Amino acid sequence: MTTLQATDISTFIAGQHGKETLRFITCGSVDDGKSTLIGRLLFESKSIFDDQLQSLETDSRQYGTQGEQVDLALLVDGLQAEREQGITIDVAYRFFATDRRRYIVADTPGHEQYTRNMATGASTADLAVILIDARKGVLTQTRRHTRIAAMMGIRHVVLAVNKMDLIDCDRARFEAIVADYRAFADGLGFASLQSIPVSGLDGDNVLHPSARMSWYSGPTLMGYLDRVDVGREGERSAFRLPVQWVNRPNLDFRGFCGRIAEGRIGVGAAVRVLPSGTVTRVKEIWLGFDSVDEAGQGDAVTLTLVDEVDASRGDVLVAAEAPAEVADQFEARLLWMAEHLMSPGRQYLMKLACREVTATVTEIKYREDVNTGVHLAAKTLGLNEIATVNLSTSAPLVFEPYRLNRTLGSFILVDKLSFETVGAGMIDFALRRASNIHWQALEVDKASRAHLKHQTPRCLWFTGLSGSGKSTIANLLEKRLHAEGRHTYVLDGDNVRHGLNRDLGFTEVDRVENIRRVAEVAKLMVDAGLIVMVSFISPFVGERRMARDLFAPGEFVEVYVDTPIEECERRDVKGLYAKARAGALKNFTGIDSPYEPPECPEVHLRTAEQGMEDCIDRLMVLIGDSASER
Ligand code: ADX
Repeated sequence: MTTLQATDISTFIAGQHGKETLRFITCGSVDDGKSTLIGRLLFESKSIFDDQLQSLETDSRQYGTQGEQVDLALLVDGLQAEREQGITIDVAYRFFATDRRRYIVADTPGHEQYTRNMATGASTADLAVILIDARKGVLTQTRRHTRIAAMMGIRHVVLAVNKMDLIDCDRARFEAIVADYRAFADGLGFASLQSIPVSGLDGDNVLHPSARMSWYSGPTLMGYLDRVDVGREGERSAFRLPVQWVNRPNLDFRGFCGRIAEGRIGVGAAVRVLPSGTVTRVKEIWLGFDSVDEAGQGDAVTLTLVDEVDASRGDVLVAAEAPAEVADQFEARLLWMAEHLMSPGRQYLMKLACREVTATVTEIKYREDVNTGVHLAAKTLGLNEIATVNLSTSAPLVFEPYRLNRTLGSFILVDKLSFETVGAGMIDFALRRASNIHWQALEVDKASRAHLKHQTPRCLWFTGLSGSGKSTIANLLEKRLHAEGRHTYVLDGDNVRHGLNRDLGFTEVDRVENIRRVAEVAKLMVDAGLIVMVSFISPFVGERRMARDLFAPGEFVEVYVDTPIEECERRDVKGLYAKARAGALKNFTGIDSPYEPPECPEVHLRTAEQGMEDCIDRLMVLIGDSASER
């Protein structure tokens, strides 16, 4: 390296240090010229290396859509699949800098099915550049993206009306689009909204003012991005460190590692460990291998504390005098990101900062129409739908409302079986109801009730297709147990659906709720000391697992009544298979609604091969041997 280069590079690097970073997202619809516009920002801000430029020229000949000219969109549409289909499918983060600022831009796809990527990009951005194709005006996708941007806490918007060259730089058209957009966006609470007419292809109003649009006297896109103030005014910044890992190489060192989500911390400062509430002081702060006196937001640190405190992954260290909240019920906004429907009552894994708990949506308060924002009643949520919901978690969470703290206010929901991310949410506030309801201690407990009955309470959970013989078996088993003087009860799907669950049908959402309720009832009955037989189709693995988790180990016995569907259909005791085949009965299990067989039930009864009495004998042995206290 020559001295000249060395000086240049050091000057260059030194120059980058003091600059502020602006994170923004670009979003819009398919084909509105987003990639070309970003490509132009990179190109004109000289953020492209010579070799990139060369391959861009080659690529433009091969994949380009701009004839002999360089296709700037190819700078951004990096993936092969994107090139071939001519679309952007992932979140591509690009970095560039001007004399004033450094930029991180999240380029996200326009297709509706990739809305989740857009939400991901928005979650860390300070500003959104919403692109509109001047020929098309404001589209549903524009509204959806704007709404998600607002929901994700973006407070500054640039409306870039692109392809102005294709509408002859028509001022009236531009103004009409802006008015249309404002009418919609004004209610979303953005702190600033700047509209700019641009041509990404020709460069008008991107870096340089457009000669063709002399009627426009506002800033260029780059000029605006360089100067816009996105400071989060009035925001609190008390110290918050979600503990990612406890580093314990030997008995003398116990370090709490993580990335500071908010605020600053200094050696000696008082911190509180949440949720436990223990207060102590900071002994040392490690930034990599360096011991430092202070650290701030964004730093990945290891803290050691003056006292031996019990804290583990998922706990949060906070400024002692300004703690975060702790709760297990929340109101939140939720973006559903899965193909299959969201079911209230179903258990999902919820990840917030470094914590993982089980969560259920207890209620959908309303769904929002993406176009109008109108609140709609909803029993379930489909792909890309947005709703305000109540959530309940299995353990208390340390959190803050999303508007105050993105890290401790946002979460994802993960499917417990497939581990697919199914939802992204933002907490608005905690619901106090559960925290004011305590467990009432009762002196006569399950053990004493059971003792009086001379039995070990149990839940025998029969699952299987309609007509598989669940109810027949449960009925016969109860007769035998009853004759032996046992205290029993049968909860049968058909019967419970006449009373407690009469409001529920056979959609997936309703079945989830059906099982949740009956599982809770069975739990109460077991608590009362009874041997309970639950005879419900209970077609989903997830809900059967949820039911199992309500009981003490060994108390729940899953009995799979395994009868081939052909046999159930042949019997067709209630004539329902015939109806379902004729199309007169929708969502019938095994026909147009799924049945997920248990993988390892405690008892597997093959009714086609085993006689009824055999089945009962097996169950009696199981109960008699291990359950009786006599
Ligand atoms: S579950 O799937 O939610 O567990 P549940 O056991 O309560 O079902 O109810 C099943 C009973 O409802 C069946 O035995 C049958 O008599 C009746 N039924 C009516 N419609 C349907 C349907 N679409 N699918 C299954 N069962 C139905």
